[in-house]
Amino acid sequence: MFETLRTQPPDKIIELMKLYADDPREGKIDLGVGVYKNPDGVTPVMRAIKTAEKRLWEDQTTKAYVGLIGDPAFNDAMVALVMGDAIERAQVASAATPGGTGAVRQAFELARMANPDLRVFVSDPTWPNHLSILKHLKIETVPYRYFDNATGTVDVPGMLADLEQAKPGDIVLLHGCCHNPTGANPGAGHWREIVAVLKQSGATPMIDLAYQGFGDGLEADAAPTRLVATSLPETLIAVSCSKNFGVYRERTGALMAVAQDTDRVAALQDNLAYLNRQNYSFPPDHGARAVTMVLTDPELRADWEAELEDMRTGMLRLREQLAAELRARSGSDRFGFIAEHRGMFSRLGATPDQVQRLRDDHGVYMVGDSRMNIAGLNEKTVPLLAEAIVKAGV
Ligand code: LMR
Repeated sequence: MFETLRTQPPDKIIELMKLYADDPREGKIDLGVGVYKNPDGVTPVMRAIKTAEKRLWEDQTTKAYVGLIGDPAFNDAMVALVMGDAIERAQVASAATPGGTGAVRQAFELARMANPDLRVFVSDPTWPNHLSILKHLKIETVPYRYFDNATGTVDVPGMLADLEQAKPGDIVLLHGCCHNPTGANPGAGHWREIVAVLKQSGATPMIDLAYQGFGDGLEADAAPTRLVATSLPETLIAVSCSKNFGVYRERTGALMAVAQDTDRVAALQDNLAYLNRQNYSFPPDHGARAVTMVLTDPELRADWEAELEDMRTGMLRLREQLAAELRARSGSDRFGFIAEHRGMFSRLGATPDQVQRLRDDHGVYMVGDSRMNIAGLNEKTVPLLAEAIVKAGV
């Protein structure tokens, strides 16, 4: 029967990881996959996570199943991290998922269970895997304008005009902070406008929050999510712990469904557990347990927050350095947006040919749409990248 199967088109980001690994050149620069790296190019196990894992190894007495939504303490800690005290715990259904991607997938499935004719509005551009999962699930996507290539900023009027087309029963997928792949984010005032349009349209927001703490800080990065979730009747939030806790391969995340009407929460909670059971039964526990320990132990939490803040400010410094190097070399301010963007990514605005030239001639690997992972740089490689960008004619 499997003669009917054809090979799948490669995932561009995963394909790039392999191309980079196979390149024998010394001095190659990896700005591809969205993984944080320290100045030595290492993706470290964060200190607090390491300590939590040691404790876990010492103290854990069983690996028996926990529950379909994972450990309740993990869900409580994650809801508190994301929502702060903006909302009552009783207004949130939450389940652990295999990473943020697992949460995204479950969110789409939940929404489709509620509305078989679901449409999902997605930013143009968005994380390619959003589109890939939606296509796999045969869910209709509607792109909304998002990025202004000329200025490297959000096209707010275009975005708002397109979101006005959404209607009740549609999902509007928003990036809570640190937009992937562009790095451009709406300002606080823009978020209020987005909320007003969503209210008007009756569509349901879904927030992908994969980089809390990588943009302007843990609280600031959660502010748009809190605003949306407290302003609209229902909100889905797909949360990833991969980046901000550095637990990528442990597959740690959560799907939250916030409802102003607490009567809805029991059914939402039940459906999150049901969906977990259908897709993989019990969600992974190891990363979630380590994250819970970090969030609930004051010393571990302080250390985690400090390390996360170092990572964030390090990326900001690299942004500023790169913008300054490009200003000096190009004699123009047209790359100033790099210092304004937040999170790991910036879309450079290079053509596919220029991206290819950067790879072939300079060993610089960025995604084909010219998304650069800023964390792939260090003080020494920033000038090399700036030189390469100018030489490639960007
Ligand atoms: C990325 O966008 O590079 C990351 O989110 C990793 C991935 O799974 O694509």
